[in-house]
Amino acid sequence: MKRIALAIVIAVAAGVPAWADGAEVDGAGGGDIALPAPATSGGMPLGDALSARATHREFSSAALSPQELADLLWAANGYNRPAEKKRTAPTAVNRQEIDLYVCTADGAYLFDAAANTLRRAADADLRGFTGRMNAGAENFAVKAPVALVYVIDFARQGMQDRPMDALRYAAVDCGFVGQNVYLHCAAHGLYTVFLGMIDAPAISAALGLPPTSTPLFAQTVGRPAE
Ligand SMILES: Cc1cc2nc3c(=O)[nH]c(=O)nc-3n(C[C@H](O)[C@H](O)[C@H](O)COP(=O)(O)O)c2cc1C
Repeated sequence: MKRIALAIVIAVAAGVPAWADGAEVDGAGGGDIALPAPATSGGMPLGDALSARATHREFSSAALSPQELADLLWAANGYNRPAEKKRTAPTAVNRQEIDLYVCTADGAYLFDAAANTLRRAADADLRGFTGRMNAGAENFAVKAPVALVYVIDFARQGMQDRPMDALRYAAVDCGFVGQNVYLHCAAHGLYTVFLGMIDAPAISAALGLPPTSTPLFAQTVGRPAE
């Protein structure tokens, strides 16, 4: 994988490095990363995206560009009504309990949607904790450049006295993010697969999550295999 990815050429006001134009996403920078402004309009008509929506597991290892990643994350769970602090995906009681982590070969980042920034969360490659994990089997999730991991913060959700509701709502809320990603990928020629098969304890340990948070699902994203 190319390591020119995080060649950082400008520093934004907050002191967070921004992506270089034309650089690729592989996370080799080591710190927080400011994303380019996402495209929030245009694209393929919804009917065409729905017609193209599908699960694919044959990925190329080619990286996503910074713009592709910014657009993907905004579509997944970005703020589409920033003045109201509301997002592209709904959540039960508007608890917004999903933390979206971007896992690459070179580390994991928390998507800070308000700042449009990736916050460095772990140095390890966590992609192998998602997808096919049986020994010997080739894991498409390790070949693709990005594994999105959907972490539920049950404390933020505030339904601990109703665990069944908490789980029902959390799972559905992840599903909305997942479908946003499916449709975005369909509209932009990317491949994706939503994943229930994840090693949640291993991901939790690597990310240093508190006991009130857990990874619930993941979603591999990448380019089609040549
Ligand atoms: C909740 C959920 C969990 C899934 N978990 C996995 C998984 O662990 N591994 C996998 O390869 N596909 C997984 N999938 C993808 C499904 O296998 C896929 O959506 C299904 O075969 C239908 O194909 P389609 O998405 O192209 O319509 C999951 C899908 C959903 C909705």
